[in-house]
Amino acid sequence: MSMPLFQTVSIDLAERSYDIHIGSGLLSLDAMFDGLPRATSVLIVSNETVAPLYAAPLQASLRKRYSKVLTLALPDGEVHKNWQTLNLIFDALLQNGCDRKTLLVALGGGVVGDMTGFAAASFMRGVPFVQLPTTLLAQVDSSVGGKTGINHPLGKNMVGAFYQPLRVICDLASLQTLPVRELSAGLAEVIKYGPIADLQFMDWLEQNMDRLLARDADALAHAVRRSCEIKAWVVAQDEREGGLRAILNFGHTFGHAIEAGMGYGAWLHGEAVGCGMVMAAQLSQRLGLVDADFVARLRALILRAGLPVVGPVLNAADNAGRYLELMRLDKKSDAGEIRFVLIDGPSRARVQGAADSLVREVIDACCQA
Ligand code: NAD
Ligand code: GLY
Repeated sequence: MSMPLFQTVSIDLAERSYDIHIGSGLLSLDAMFDGLPRATSVLIVSNETVAPLYAAPLQASLRKRYSKVLTLALPDGEVHKNWQTLNLIFDALLQNGCDRKTLLVALGGGVVGDMTGFAAASFMRGVPFVQLPTTLLAQVDSSVGGKTGINHPLGKNMVGAFYQPLRVICDLASLQTLPVRELSAGLAEVIKYGPIADLQFMDWLEQNMDRLLARDADALAHAVRRSCEIKAWVVAQDEREGGLRAILNFGHTFGHAIEAGMGYGAWLHGEAVGCGMVMAAQLSQRLGLVDADFVARLRALILRAGLPVVGPVLNAADNAGRYLELMRLDKKSDAGEIRFVLIDGPSRARVQGAADSLVREVIDACCQA
């Protein structure tokens, strides 16, 4: 019996349910596009780095099904995840006579995926879209679950919509061209699933980090599949983040402050999350929720993944004050109170506030110029 070409994780969201296909060489596998709604036109939204690498085989596949296959290459980078770049997608759709059946295909990392998803949510009040994530971070996190949006100068991902794709296609082969710094950034979002939900997965990551860094296909397949399973399990219970889904933001409250404070793009999102997880774990320890050994173990794993574990100084005069100011803008904040995702024993998380004095202690202990 031949080996299956890909594995599938399903996300159960009633009429918005969909499949996440995971395998190598899927970009040019025609069967990946079976069963999508009929349309005349499709717009592939990518960027100037990814389009030259991967748009051609995808265009060839799609031309067998759609009479008009358009491709748009956006400028590359988190710094372009904004209103002006989003508008380039609407320009392309309108200039090419696209209609409300036009299929959008996001080919790229989380920046392309989040912006394309938001464009799909809002163009003609909603058109179908498919995610084709090409970074590890996008395959294990951003392409799944329907969070879409753009940054505002005053805050990360502040403008957006919940809008689910019709399908997610993770081609593991695309990870071979990923810069090493981006691979590490993706590993941050993989690592987060251990402390919040699955201690066995954390054990597996400790045993297999070298294989992941070497881009071993089987190791990557396992990491992407298990991450997607955990994310699908969480999102199926709380699609619009009324409660449980917030645990997926472990490390993100501190991380978003780092990203915004340093200027978008200076630290990669995954790097900021990696360092943010160290800070959130230390805060958990100071609140008596987890012991020092577990925090040290998590810190070591983050370090082995090639991620920073020491935070940047955002303001020489009052660094902790600057972090606190930025963190108050977090979407989880409630009436000005910052709410942190904390580790509540290995592989369990909770969301709660903490005294500013305690948060200041953590920031002082974790940052250096
Ligand atoms: P990214 O999209 O900027 O991609 C990283 C870099 O890798 C870019 O330069 C890109 O052009 C390049 N690249 C992409 N695929 C490549 C490939 N196969 N080979 C070579 N280069 C490639 O960054 P990212 O880390 O994928 O995503 C980060 C974004 O995702 C952030 O904006 C973050 O807010 C968002 N995010 C969203 C969610 C969500 O639930 N929607 C979750 C996590 C993160
Ligand atoms: N990445 C966090 C979430 O999807 O909720």
